[in-house]
Amino acid sequence: MDTVVSGIRSTGHLHLGNYFGALRNFVRMQEENNCYFFIADYHSLTTHPDPSILHDNVKNILCEYLASGIDPEKATIYVQSDVPETVELYLLLNMHAYLGELSKTVSFKEKARKQPENVNAGLLTYPTLMAADILIHNADKVPVGKDQEQHLELTRRFARRFNGMYGQEYFKEAAAYNFGEDLIKIPGLDGSGKMGKSEGNCVYLCEDPKLIQKKVMRALTDQGPTEPNSVKPDYIENLFTLMKVVSTPDTLEYFNEKWNTCEIRYGDMKKQLAADIINFTTPIRERYLDICNNEEYLRKVTKMGAEKARESAAKTIKDVRLLMGIRPF
Ligand code: TYM
Repeated sequence: MDTVVSGIRSTGHLHLGNYFGALRNFVRMQEENNCYFFIADYHSLTTHPDPSILHDNVKNILCEYLASGIDPEKATIYVQSDVPETVELYLLLNMHAYLGELSKTVSFKEKARKQPENVNAGLLTYPTLMAADILIHNADKVPVGKDQEQHLELTRRFARRFNGMYGQEYFKEAAAYNFGEDLIKIPGLDGSGKMGKSEGNCVYLCEDPKLIQKKVMRALTDQGPTEPNSVKPDYIENLFTLMKVVSTPDTLEYFNEKWNTCEIRYGDMKKQLAADIINFTTPIRERYLDICNNEEYLRKVTKMGAEKARESAAKTIKDVRLLMGIRPF
């Protein structure tokens, strides 16, 4: 049985990119693996350090995990900050993480550009904390979207380096995972390549249907193709990519055909896309609204998750300490 670890930062509500890039696979993987799915609240502090909303953000993600079908009886669901062993591993791994490699990551450079007034050490060492999340349970597989590929590469490098330095094949090299397919990237509605919260182009998983409809209808389009079978511009391809994940293959085929014969009516396509997104998200939103009010259940789930996660984490820390020469008198 493989060990699977993944998490999502608690910076607000989950969007369709998070769902199709990661969460959907969490749900699929819990059936046959030893899974740890956490809410990365420490990671959210690198960009969103606001004590008045931190807890609610964690709660949102927790409820969205549960509403999407992660089952706390099958997978271990926990809050990152409930497992202090992760922080110890983060510190230890940081001793062997070099400034050159950390400052070269795409995510660091992007964040440093976006928030030049707050290029903090947490941002720089974001990949070491992520590696600690993964290595603390010695994961085999990590379900993530395409944007996390570089972080996974670094995680493997840290694992190899640790094993080499301490002379034991202790950590496994965790693989970014999407059921044998390429990792995916869900595009935004504004023509940009990636749906993302900071890009402001998201459809949220538990969003009000009217708002979903409005956002989709406003998506960027043009006059339509004039040549049969022409290549789609990116912003049109994006709508097709979204359709591919929420609509039936027949629907996708129908609009592709319309595109190829220059008969496409974007209004119809967007109406269909909005309806399919709403159809898909409605049961999740309904479960979400239910779960949100059940504080007792949320307390139980996070307590049970923290206990299970700490048990696995404590074992790793014990081994790592010994390997590094930290021994009791
Ligand atoms: P985060 O919170 O930015 O995103 C969470 C997950 O959603 C995926 N994702 C997408 N996938 C496809 N298309 C998109 N437009 C899209 N936007 C987001 C991300 O790839 C990710 O899988 N560093 C992580 C959180 C993390 C983590 C970990 C993940 C912390 N520790 C350990 C795995 C293992 C992050 O920022 O994801």
